[in-house]
Amino acid sequence: MIDPVAHYLRPGTLQLAALPPLSLYVHLPWCVKKCPYCDFNSHAAPGGPGAPEAAYLDALRADLEATLPLVWGRRVVSVFIGGGTPSLFSPESIDRLLADVRALLPLEPLAEITLEANPGTFERERFKAFRAAGVTRLSIGVQSFDDAALQRIGRVHDAAQARAAVAEAREAFDTFNIDLMYALPGQTLAQLQTDLDTALAFAPPHLSVYHLTVEPNTAFAVAPPVLPGEDLASDMLDLITDRTGARGLQRYEVSAFAQPGHRCRHNLNYWQFGDYIGIGAGAHGKLSFPHRVLRTVRWREPAAYMQHALAGNAVSNQHEVARRDLPFEYMMNALRLREGFEMADFGARTGLPPSAVQAALQAAQAKGLLQFDGEHVQPTARGFDFLSDLQAMFLQA
Ligand SMILES: C[S@@+](CC[C@H](N)C(=O)[O-])C[C@H]1O[C@@H](n2cnc3c(N)ncnc32)[C@H](O)[C@@H]1O
Ligand code: SF4
Repeated sequence: MIDPVAHYLRPGTLQLAALPPLSLYVHLPWCVKKCPYCDFNSHAAPGGPGAPEAAYLDALRADLEATLPLVWGRRVVSVFIGGGTPSLFSPESIDRLLADVRALLPLEPLAEITLEANPGTFERERFKAFRAAGVTRLSIGVQSFDDAALQRIGRVHDAAQARAAVAEAREAFDTFNIDLMYALPGQTLAQLQTDLDTALAFAPPHLSVYHLTVEPNTAFAVAPPVLPGEDLASDMLDLITDRTGARGLQRYEVSAFAQPGHRCRHNLNYWQFGDYIGIGAGAHGKLSFPHRVLRTVRWREPAAYMQHALAGNAVSNQHEVARRDLPFEYMMNALRLREGFEMADFGARTGLPPSAVQAALQAAQAKGLLQFDGEHVQPTARGFDFLSDLQAMFLQA
Protein backbone atom coordinates (compact mmCIF):
# COMPACT_ATOMS: atom_id res chain seq x y z
CA MET A 1 0.00 0.00 0.00
CA ILE A 2 1.36 3.44 -0.90
CA ASP A 3 2.01 5.52 2.20
CA PRO A 4 0.25 8.87 2.67
CA VAL A 5 1.60 11.61 0.41
CA ALA A 6 2.73 13.75 3.34
CA HIS A 7 5.32 11.10 4.03
CA TYR A 8 7.05 11.88 0.73
CA LEU A 9 6.82 15.63 1.15
CA ARG A 10 8.59 15.73 4.52
CA PRO A 11 12.02 17.43 4.72
CA GLY A 12 15.14 15.55 3.56
CA THR A 13 18.73 16.16 2.52
CA LEU A 14 18.08 16.63 -1.22
CA GLN A 15 16.97 19.98 -2.66
CA LEU A 16 15.11 19.66 -5.98
CA ALA A 17 14.25 23.18 -7.13
CA ALA A 18 11.59 21.92 -9.56
CA LEU A 19 10.14 18.54 -10.44
CA PRO A 20 11.21 17.00 -13.79
CA PRO A 21 8.92 16.15 -16.73
CA LEU A 22 6.59 13.23 -16.03
CA SER A 23 5.98 10.26 -18.37
CA LEU A 24 3.75 7.21 -18.10
CA TYR A 25 4.85 3.63 -18.86
CA VAL A 26 2.16 0.94 -19.24
CA HIS A 27 3.25 -2.71 -19.29
CA LEU A 28 1.19 -5.31 -21.18
CA PRO A 29 2.87 -8.61 -20.28
CA TRP A 30 1.64 -11.19 -22.82
CA CYS A 31 3.30 -12.59 -25.96
CA VAL A 32 2.44 -15.35 -28.44
CA LYS A 33 5.35 -17.32 -27.02
CA LYS A 34 8.45 -16.57 -24.97
CA CYS A 35 11.58 -15.83 -27.06
CA PRO A 36 14.68 -17.73 -25.89
CA TYR A 37 16.80 -14.58 -25.33
CA CYS A 38 14.15 -12.48 -23.58
CA ASP A 39 14.31 -11.56 -19.89
CA PHE A 40 11.53 -8.99 -19.98
CA ASN A 41 8.44 -9.61 -17.87
CA SER A 42 6.60 -11.36 -20.68
CA HIS A 43 4.49 -14.49 -20.58
CA ALA A 44 3.05 -16.77 -23.25
CA ALA A 45 -0.60 -15.74 -23.58
CA PRO A 46 -2.93 -18.05 -21.64
CA GLY A 47 -4.89 -20.55 -23.75
CA GLY A 48 -8.52 -20.13 -24.74
CA PRO A 49 -9.50 -16.57 -25.54
CA GLY A 50 -5.94 -15.26 -24.99
CA ALA A 51 -4.97 -12.44 -22.66
CA PRO A 52 -7.71 -11.36 -20.20
CA GLU A 53 -7.78 -7.89 -21.72
CA ALA A 54 -10.82 -6.42 -19.97
CA ALA A 55 -9.77 -7.61 -16.50
CA TYR A 56 -6.25 -6.31 -17.07
CA LEU A 57 -7.57 -2.91 -18.17
CA ASP A 58 -9.64 -2.74 -14.97
CA ALA A 59 -6.46 -3.45 -12.98
CA LEU A 60 -4.48 -0.78 -14.86
CA ARG A 61 -7.16 1.80 -14.16
CA ALA A 62 -7.25 0.94 -10.46
CA ASP A 63 -3.45 1.07 -10.38
CA LEU A 64 -3.36 4.52 -11.97
CA GLU A 65 -6.12 5.84 -9.72
CA ALA A 66 -4.19 4.75 -6.63
CA THR A 67 -1.05 6.51 -7.93
CA LEU A 68 -2.67 9.86 -8.67
CA PRO A 69 -2.08 11.47 -5.25
CA LEU A 70 1.68 11.12 -5.83
CA VAL A 71 1.59 13.16 -9.06
CA TRP A 72 -1.19 15.61 -8.30
CA GLY A 73 -1.29 18.56 -10.72
CA ARG A 74 1.56 17.31 -12.93
CA ARG A 75 1.14 17.03 -16.71
CA VAL A 76 2.27 13.95 -18.60
CA VAL A 77 4.60 14.53 -21.57
CA SER A 78 4.68 11.00 -23.03
CA VAL A 79 3.10 7.57 -22.76
CA PHE A 80 4.81 4.30 -23.72
CA ILE A 81 2.77 1.10 -23.97
CA GLY A 82 5.39 -1.64 -23.86
CA GLY A 83 5.63 -5.35 -23.28
CA GLY A 84 5.37 -8.09 -23.83
CA THR A 85 3.50 -7.65 -27.08
CA PRO A 86 1.01 -4.78 -26.74
CA SER A 87 -0.16 -5.23 -30.35
CA LEU A 88 -1.82 -8.48 -29.21
CA PHE A 89 -4.40 -6.26 -27.48
CA SER A 90 -7.29 -5.23 -29.70
CA PRO A 91 -7.48 -1.63 -30.92
CA GLU A 92 -10.70 -1.32 -28.86
CA SER A 93 -8.75 -2.23 -25.70
CA ILE A 94 -5.98 0.26 -26.52
CA ASP A 95 -8.69 2.87 -27.13
CA ARG A 96 -10.19 2.14 -23.71
CA LEU A 97 -6.76 2.23 -22.05
CA LEU A 98 -5.95 5.63 -23.54
CA ALA A 99 -9.42 6.95 -22.67
CA ASP A 100 -8.80 5.90 -19.04
CA VAL A 101 -5.38 7.55 -19.07
CA ARG A 102 -6.78 10.80 -20.48
CA ALA A 103 -9.64 10.78 -17.97
CA LEU A 104 -7.26 10.42 -15.03
CA LEU A 105 -4.12 12.31 -16.06
CA PRO A 106 -3.63 15.66 -17.80
CA LEU A 107 -1.71 14.80 -21.00
CA GLU A 108 0.25 17.50 -22.84
CA PRO A 109 -1.70 18.37 -26.01
CA LEU A 110 1.05 16.95 -28.25
CA ALA A 111 2.05 14.08 -25.97
CA GLU A 112 4.00 11.29 -27.70
CA ILE A 113 2.12 8.00 -27.32
CA THR A 114 4.15 4.95 -28.40
CA LEU A 115 2.90 1.38 -28.74
CA GLU A 116 5.18 -1.64 -29.22
CA ALA A 117 4.03 -3.94 -32.00
CA ASN A 118 5.31 -7.31 -33.18
CA PRO A 119 5.12 -8.46 -36.80
CA GLY A 120 2.62 -11.25 -37.30
CA THR A 121 0.33 -10.14 -34.46
CA PHE A 122 -2.10 -8.10 -36.51
CA GLU A 123 -4.35 -8.17 -39.50
CA ARG A 124 -4.31 -5.41 -42.09
CA GLU A 125 -5.76 -2.09 -40.93
CA ARG A 126 -4.93 -2.88 -37.28
CA PHE A 127 -2.20 -0.24 -37.14
CA LYS A 128 -4.59 2.40 -38.49
CA ALA A 129 -7.00 1.47 -35.70
CA PHE A 130 -4.23 1.96 -33.11
CA ARG A 131 -3.59 5.36 -34.68
CA ALA A 132 -7.28 6.22 -34.43
CA ALA A 133 -7.20 5.21 -30.74
CA GLY A 134 -4.61 7.95 -30.16
CA VAL A 135 -1.27 6.15 -30.57
CA THR A 136 1.13 8.59 -32.30
CA ARG A 137 4.20 6.37 -32.70
CA LEU A 138 4.64 2.67 -33.38
CA SER A 139 7.75 0.71 -32.35
CA ILE A 140 8.05 -2.49 -34.34
CA GLY A 141 10.11 -5.39 -32.96
CA VAL A 142 11.61 -6.67 -36.20
CA GLN A 143 15.00 -7.92 -34.85
CA SER A 144 16.08 -9.17 -38.31
CA PHE A 145 14.80 -9.37 -41.88
CA ASP A 146 16.52 -12.74 -42.41
CA ASP A 147 14.32 -15.86 -42.14
CA ALA A 148 17.13 -18.14 -40.91
CA ALA A 149 18.28 -15.60 -38.29
CA LEU A 150 14.69 -15.10 -37.09
CA GLN A 151 14.32 -18.85 -36.67
CA ARG A 152 17.58 -19.13 -34.76
CA ILE A 153 16.41 -16.52 -32.23
CA GLY A 154 13.01 -18.19 -31.92
CA ARG A 155 10.82 -15.44 -33.35
CA VAL A 156 7.25 -16.31 -34.28
CA HIS A 157 7.28 -14.12 -37.42
CA ASP A 158 9.16 -14.40 -40.70
CA ALA A 159 10.92 -11.78 -42.83
CA ALA A 160 7.92 -11.20 -45.10
CA GLN A 161 5.73 -10.43 -42.07
CA ALA A 162 8.43 -8.06 -40.76
CA ARG A 163 8.51 -6.16 -44.05
CA ALA A 164 4.70 -6.04 -44.17
CA ALA A 165 4.56 -4.65 -40.61
CA VAL A 166 7.05 -1.88 -41.36
CA ALA A 167 5.28 -0.99 -44.63
CA GLU A 168 1.97 -0.73 -42.81
CA ALA A 169 3.47 1.32 -39.95
CA ARG A 170 4.92 3.72 -42.49
CA GLU A 171 1.51 4.22 -44.03
CA ALA A 172 -0.39 4.61 -40.77
CA PHE A 173 2.03 6.72 -38.67
CA ASP A 174 3.97 9.98 -39.10
CA THR A 175 6.74 8.55 -36.96
CA PHE A 176 7.78 5.00 -36.11
CA ASN A 177 10.69 2.94 -34.86
CA ILE A 178 12.22 -0.33 -35.99
CA ASP A 179 13.97 -2.49 -33.36
CA LEU A 180 16.83 -4.59 -34.71
CA MET A 181 19.30 -6.79 -32.88
CA TYR A 182 22.82 -7.57 -34.07
CA ALA A 183 25.55 -10.08 -33.19
CA LEU A 184 22.90 -12.77 -33.71
CA PRO A 185 23.84 -16.48 -33.64
CA GLY A 186 26.01 -17.22 -36.70
CA GLN A 187 25.50 -13.71 -38.15
CA THR A 188 28.12 -12.40 -40.61
CA LEU A 189 28.94 -8.78 -41.39
CA ALA A 190 27.38 -9.19 -44.85
CA GLN A 191 24.15 -10.51 -43.32
CA LEU A 192 23.98 -7.58 -40.92
CA GLN A 193 24.53 -5.23 -43.83
CA THR A 194 21.56 -6.76 -45.65
CA ASP A 195 19.42 -6.39 -42.51
CA LEU A 196 20.43 -2.75 -42.14
CA ASP A 197 19.91 -1.95 -45.80
CA THR A 198 16.47 -3.53 -45.69
CA ALA A 199 15.55 -1.48 -42.64
CA LEU A 200 16.99 1.74 -44.09
CA ALA A 201 15.14 1.25 -47.40
CA PHE A 202 11.94 2.01 -45.44
CA ALA A 203 13.45 5.39 -44.43
CA PRO A 204 12.59 4.82 -40.75
CA PRO A 205 12.42 8.04 -38.70
CA HIS A 206 13.93 6.07 -35.78
CA LEU A 207 15.98 2.90 -35.49
CA SER A 208 17.02 1.08 -32.30
CA VAL A 209 19.81 -1.46 -32.71
CA TYR A 210 20.71 -3.66 -29.76
CA HIS A 211 23.65 -6.02 -29.28
CA LEU A 212 22.04 -9.41 -28.50
CA THR A 213 22.95 -10.28 -24.93
CA VAL A 214 22.52 -13.63 -23.25
CA GLU A 215 20.62 -12.83 -20.09
CA PRO A 216 20.52 -15.08 -17.01
CA ASN A 217 17.35 -17.15 -16.61
CA THR A 218 16.63 -17.36 -20.34
CA ALA A 219 16.61 -20.41 -22.62
CA PHE A 220 19.76 -19.05 -24.31
CA ALA A 221 21.55 -18.97 -20.94
CA VAL A 222 20.77 -22.68 -20.49
CA ALA A 223 21.76 -23.65 -24.06
CA PRO A 224 23.90 -20.80 -25.40
CA PRO A 225 24.08 -20.39 -29.19
CA VAL A 226 27.39 -19.62 -30.94
CA LEU A 227 27.62 -15.84 -31.11
CA PRO A 228 29.96 -13.51 -33.02
CA GLY A 229 33.15 -12.69 -31.10
CA GLU A 230 34.03 -9.26 -29.70
CA ASP A 231 36.03 -8.10 -32.74
CA LEU A 232 33.28 -8.97 -35.18
CA ALA A 233 30.67 -7.38 -32.91
CA SER A 234 32.75 -4.21 -32.79
CA ASP A 235 33.02 -4.17 -36.63
CA MET A 236 29.25 -4.63 -36.70
CA LEU A 237 28.72 -1.57 -34.52
CA ASP A 238 30.99 0.48 -36.81
CA LEU A 239 28.96 -0.69 -39.79
CA ILE A 240 25.71 0.28 -38.04
CA THR A 241 26.98 3.76 -37.18
CA ASP A 242 28.36 4.36 -40.71
CA ARG A 243 25.30 3.15 -42.59
CA THR A 244 22.76 4.91 -40.40
CA GLY A 245 24.81 8.13 -40.47
CA ALA A 246 24.96 8.01 -44.27
CA ARG A 247 21.14 7.91 -44.30
CA GLY A 248 20.75 10.93 -42.02
CA LEU A 249 20.04 9.02 -38.82
CA GLN A 250 21.97 10.43 -35.89
CA ARG A 251 23.20 8.16 -33.10
CA TYR A 252 21.90 10.21 -30.18
CA GLU A 253 22.06 7.42 -27.59
CA VAL A 254 24.04 4.17 -27.34
CA SER A 255 21.41 2.11 -29.22
CA ALA A 256 19.15 4.81 -30.70
CA PHE A 257 19.39 6.47 -34.11
CA ALA A 258 16.98 9.16 -35.29
CA GLN A 259 16.21 11.53 -38.11
CA PRO A 260 16.08 15.18 -36.97
CA GLY A 261 12.89 15.79 -35.01
CA HIS A 262 12.19 12.08 -34.45
CA ARG A 263 14.06 11.29 -31.23
CA CYS A 264 11.96 9.27 -28.80
CA ARG A 265 10.75 11.82 -26.26
CA HIS A 266 9.69 9.10 -23.81
CA ASN A 267 13.08 7.39 -23.73
CA LEU A 268 14.85 10.77 -23.67
CA ASN A 269 12.96 11.54 -20.49
CA TYR A 270 14.36 8.32 -18.93
CA TRP A 271 17.89 9.16 -20.06
CA GLN A 272 17.59 12.73 -18.77
CA PHE A 273 16.58 11.29 -15.39
CA GLY A 274 13.01 12.48 -15.69
CA ASP A 275 10.10 10.98 -13.79
CA TYR A 276 7.76 8.19 -14.87
CA ILE A 277 4.78 6.43 -13.44
CA GLY A 278 5.05 2.71 -14.26
CA ILE A 279 1.77 0.79 -14.21
CA GLY A 280 1.14 -2.84 -15.17
CA ALA A 281 2.72 -6.14 -14.15
CA GLY A 282 6.33 -5.70 -13.01
CA ALA A 283 6.46 -2.06 -14.19
CA HIS A 284 9.12 0.19 -12.70
CA GLY A 285 8.48 3.82 -11.81
CA LYS A 286 10.53 6.80 -10.62
CA LEU A 287 8.94 9.80 -8.92
CA SER A 288 10.63 12.90 -7.53
CA PHE A 289 9.54 15.03 -4.59
CA PRO A 290 11.18 18.25 -3.34
CA HIS A 291 13.52 16.31 -1.00
CA ARG A 292 13.66 12.72 -2.30
CA VAL A 293 13.51 10.38 -5.32
CA LEU A 294 11.27 7.32 -5.05
CA ARG A 295 11.50 4.11 -7.08
CA THR A 296 8.51 1.77 -7.32
CA VAL A 297 7.92 -1.75 -8.71
CA ARG A 298 4.55 -3.41 -9.34
CA TRP A 299 3.74 -7.08 -8.67
CA ARG A 300 5.43 -9.10 -11.40
CA GLU A 301 3.14 -12.05 -12.10
CA PRO A 302 0.16 -10.88 -14.19
CA ALA A 303 -2.43 -12.73 -12.07
CA ALA A 304 -0.96 -11.46 -8.79
CA TYR A 305 -0.68 -7.96 -10.25
CA MET A 306 -4.34 -7.89 -11.29
CA GLN A 307 -5.49 -9.12 -7.90
CA HIS A 308 -3.37 -6.62 -5.96
CA ALA A 309 -4.09 -3.69 -8.27
CA LEU A 310 -7.85 -4.19 -7.94
CA ALA A 311 -7.38 -4.19 -4.16
CA GLY A 312 -5.57 -0.82 -4.42
CA ASN A 313 -2.21 -2.40 -3.71
CA ALA A 314 -0.34 -2.69 -7.03
CA VAL A 315 3.09 -1.71 -5.67
CA SER A 316 5.12 -4.69 -4.47
CA ASN A 317 8.33 -2.79 -3.65
CA GLN A 318 9.39 0.79 -3.28
CA HIS A 319 12.41 2.58 -1.94
CA GLU A 320 13.88 6.04 -1.68
CA VAL A 321 17.07 6.31 -3.71
CA ALA A 322 19.88 6.87 -1.21
CA ARG A 323 21.72 10.18 -1.59
CA ARG A 324 25.01 8.39 -2.24
CA ASP A 325 23.47 6.26 -5.05
CA LEU A 326 22.07 9.21 -7.00
CA PRO A 327 25.25 10.18 -8.91
CA PHE A 328 25.62 6.66 -10.35
CA GLU A 329 21.91 6.35 -11.15
CA TYR A 330 22.02 9.70 -12.94
CA MET A 331 25.15 8.78 -14.92
CA MET A 332 23.76 5.33 -15.85
CA ASN A 333 21.18 7.28 -17.84
CA ALA A 334 22.64 10.64 -18.88
CA LEU A 335 26.02 9.32 -20.08
CA ARG A 336 24.17 7.15 -22.61
CA LEU A 337 23.39 10.36 -24.48
CA ARG A 338 25.84 11.32 -27.23
CA GLU A 339 25.37 15.02 -26.42
CA GLY A 340 25.83 14.52 -22.69
CA PHE A 341 24.17 16.86 -20.19
CA GLU A 342 24.42 20.20 -18.37
CA MET A 343 25.63 20.23 -14.78
CA ALA A 344 22.62 22.46 -14.01
CA ASP A 345 20.39 19.54 -15.05
CA PHE A 346 22.36 17.15 -12.85
CA GLY A 347 21.62 19.47 -9.91
CA ALA A 348 17.97 19.91 -10.85
CA ARG A 349 17.29 16.17 -11.24
CA THR A 350 19.26 14.81 -8.28
CA GLY A 351 19.00 17.71 -5.84
CA LEU A 352 22.76 17.37 -5.27
CA PRO A 353 25.47 20.05 -5.49
CA PRO A 354 28.14 19.77 -8.28
CA SER A 355 30.71 18.87 -5.62
CA ALA A 356 29.01 15.44 -5.33
CA VAL A 357 30.57 14.40 -8.66
CA GLN A 358 33.44 16.87 -9.12
CA ALA A 359 36.24 14.42 -8.29
CA ALA A 360 34.81 11.63 -10.46
CA LEU A 361 34.30 14.02 -13.39
CA GLN A 362 37.89 15.16 -13.19
CA ALA A 363 39.20 11.59 -12.95
CA ALA A 364 37.13 10.53 -15.98
CA GLN A 365 38.32 13.57 -17.92
CA ALA A 366 41.95 12.72 -17.09
CA LYS A 367 41.35 9.25 -18.56
CA GLY A 368 39.97 10.75 -21.76
CA LEU A 369 36.50 9.29 -21.15
CA LEU A 370 34.60 12.57 -21.05
CA GLN A 371 34.84 16.30 -21.71
CA PHE A 372 33.88 18.71 -18.95
CA ASP A 373 34.11 22.52 -19.16
CA GLY A 374 32.59 23.24 -15.78
CA GLU A 375 29.05 23.41 -17.19
CA HIS A 376 28.61 20.77 -19.87
CA VAL A 377 29.55 17.08 -19.62
CA GLN A 378 29.90 14.93 -22.72
CA PRO A 379 31.27 11.41 -23.13
CA THR A 380 34.15 11.22 -25.63
CA ALA A 381 34.16 8.59 -28.39
CA ARG A 382 36.40 6.53 -26.10
CA GLY A 383 34.03 7.06 -23.17
CA PHE A 384 31.15 5.85 -25.34
CA ASP A 385 33.14 2.71 -26.24
CA PHE A 386 33.91 2.00 -22.56
CA LEU A 387 30.64 3.27 -21.18
CA SER A 388 30.23 0.86 -18.28
CA ASP A 389 33.77 1.67 -17.06
CA LEU A 390 32.95 5.37 -17.28
CA GLN A 391 29.64 4.97 -15.44
CA ALA A 392 31.29 2.84 -12.74
CA MET A 393 33.53 5.79 -11.84
CA PHE A 394 30.44 7.42 -10.31
CA LEU A 395 29.63 4.53 -8.00
CA GLN A 396 29.27 6.03 -4.53
CA ALA A 397 31.21 9.05 -5.79
C1 LIG B 1 10.59 -4.74 -24.63
S1 LIG B 1 11.48 -5.59 -25.86
C2 LIG B 1 10.19 -6.37 -26.74
C3 LIG B 1 9.44 -5.72 -27.83
C4 LIG B 1 8.58 -6.68 -28.61
N1 LIG B 1 7.81 -7.55 -27.78
C5 LIG B 1 9.41 -7.57 -29.51
O1 LIG B 1 9.85 -8.61 -29.08
O2 LIG B 1 9.59 -7.21 -30.65
C6 LIG B 1 12.17 -4.30 -26.81
C7 LIG B 1 13.38 -4.68 -27.60
O3 LIG B 1 14.46 -5.10 -26.79
C8 LIG B 1 15.36 -5.86 -27.56
N2 LIG B 1 15.80 -7.02 -26.79
C9 LIG B 1 15.04 -7.90 -26.11
N3 LIG B 1 15.82 -8.84 -25.52
C10 LIG B 1 17.10 -8.55 -25.85
C11 LIG B 1 18.37 -9.15 -25.56
N4 LIG B 1 18.47 -10.26 -24.81
N5 LIG B 1 19.49 -8.56 -26.06
C12 LIG B 1 19.38 -7.45 -26.81
N6 LIG B 1 18.23 -6.85 -27.11
C13 LIG B 1 17.09 -7.38 -26.64
C14 LIG B 1 14.62 -6.26 -28.84
O4 LIG B 1 15.14 -5.56 -29.94
C15 LIG B 1 13.20 -5.81 -28.55
O5 LIG B 1 12.53 -5.42 -29.71
S1 SF4 C 1 7.99 -11.10 -28.21
FE1 SF4 C 1 9.33 -9.51 -27.28
S2 SF4 C 1 8.69 -9.33 -25.15
FE2 SF4 C 1 7.78 -11.20 -26.00
S3 SF4 C 1 9.18 -12.83 -25.41
FE3 SF4 C 1 9.78 -12.13 -27.45
S4 SF4 C 1 11.31 -10.47 -27.12
FE4 SF4 C 1 10.26 -10.86 -25.17
